[in-house]
Amino acid sequence: MTVRAVCPGSFDPVTHGHLDVIYRAADTFDHVVVACMRNVSKRNSLFDLDERLAMLEEVTAHLPNVELAVFKGLLVEFARAREIDVIVKGLRAVSDFEYELQMAQMNRSIGQIETMFLSASPEHSFLSSSLVKEVARFGGDVSDFVPPVVAKRLADKYAEGEAG
Ligand code: PNS
Repeated sequence: MTVRAVCPGSFDPVTHGHLDVIYRAADTFDHVVVACMRNVSKRNSLFDLDERLAMLEEVTAHLPNVELAVFKGLLVEFARAREIDVIVKGLRAVSDFEYELQMAQMNRSIGQIETMFLSASPEHSFLSSSLVKEVARFGGDVSDFVPPVVAKRLADKYAEGEAG
């Protein structure tokens, strides 16, 4: 049996924390769809969809069983249409748990799909796209937290005057 997984997210931008989950999912499941949400509702979305995908493409290109996709609307509808068996999420800390549990239960209720959690590697447990953006915005070094292509895009973006 072939097991197809989805790693969903807004990836604004992709971090080493996301990649840790994606790489481990790729080791665990036969096929992994990294699904980038089209309409990021967060007010502080920095990168547009094409930019987020370009970064994801560059850092997952070497993984033969990983595919990139875009989704909007309900994740369970996307999963159904793509014949995906399982949603894979990373859990960083207890603070992630309550919301992630709610989403997993809702998705199982409305979409009859299981969610499996991978525990974040300890070195990534504090990492989030939001914090990386904040550090980069004020000129801090984010090279430990994101791949070089992302660090470069962050520097370019804030040099364009996004810092406000
Ligand atoms: O990277 P993020 O922003 O934490 O990802 C959140 C995401 C995209 C996984 C989540 O918001 C999601 O699944 N959105 C799709 C809409 C949906 O299906 N909502 C119902 C979930 S219970």
